[in-house]
Amino acid sequence: MKTNAIGIFDSGIGGTSIWKEINTLLPNENTIYLADSKNAPYGPKGKDAIISLSIKNTEYLIKQHCKLIVVACNTATTNAIDYLRANYNLPFIGIEPAIKPAALQTKTNSIGILATRGTLSSALFSKTSTLFASNIKVIEQHGDGIVELIESGKLVSDEMNSLLKGYLQPMIEANIDYLVLGCTHYPYLMPLLIKLLPKHVKIIDSGEAVARQTKAVLEQHNLINRSHLKLNNSFFTNSKTKVMESLLGTNYTVNYLDF
Ligand code: SIN
Repeated sequence: MKTNAIGIFDSGIGGTSIWKEINTLLPNENTIYLADSKNAPYGPKGKDAIISLSIKNTEYLIKQHCKLIVVACNTATTNAIDYLRANYNLPFIGIEPAIKPAALQTKTNSIGILATRGTLSSALFSKTSTLFASNIKVIEQHGDGIVELIESGKLVSDEMNSLLKGYLQPMIEANIDYLVLGCTHYPYLMPLLIKLLPKHVKIIDSGEAVARQTKAVLEQHNLINRSHLKLNNSFFTNSKTKVMESLLGTNYTVNYLDF
């Protein structure tokens, strides 16, 4: 069981930002990454649709004997993780926007959050926001269109540049000093965000915290891989493999899977 893979799924290729953090912290773990890019984005879909797509991804990873599943998608976490935890007998790690650290550290009492509609309208998001950020100004922005551009290989493009400019302007006007990235695709925007935001604005995402949580839960369940057998990191997508390969870099091959 300990040599079984950590399963990771996302609505697409953005969750590879989470895979990178997990692989850095836990280099001795086998991993299987599943990108449901054919159905991306999950953000505008209703809760029931997000739950059934999450079930399909989970069942595929369970068939591959994964020992733990990381739901590397904020939208799937906020809408479906309670259902998954209640119905499948293995540990699940979810991704939530890092509102708490931003709310605790802001000096201007104003923070921005960029996330999908599905995340911002979820009950889990509103609970976290009320709990940690009720005394400060939170500028919420739907990132409509961003996931589609990344999935279609237009991460660096004029369209992305002007979309982000429009999304960030109200936050800059509200004098935010923290920007929370509430979607696992968004860490790939970091170079562009740094260019577009004033220098004092700090950008935070949940990647490292998720990796630490994954390690803690593996330890808790005595599931850390201590074997020295050859490791395997497998990547599957039900869409174009090239775009995902370009995000991962040259060391990894992405396989097409019709699921
Ligand atoms: C999406 O599929 O809309 C974005 C994924 C996420 O919320 O992390």
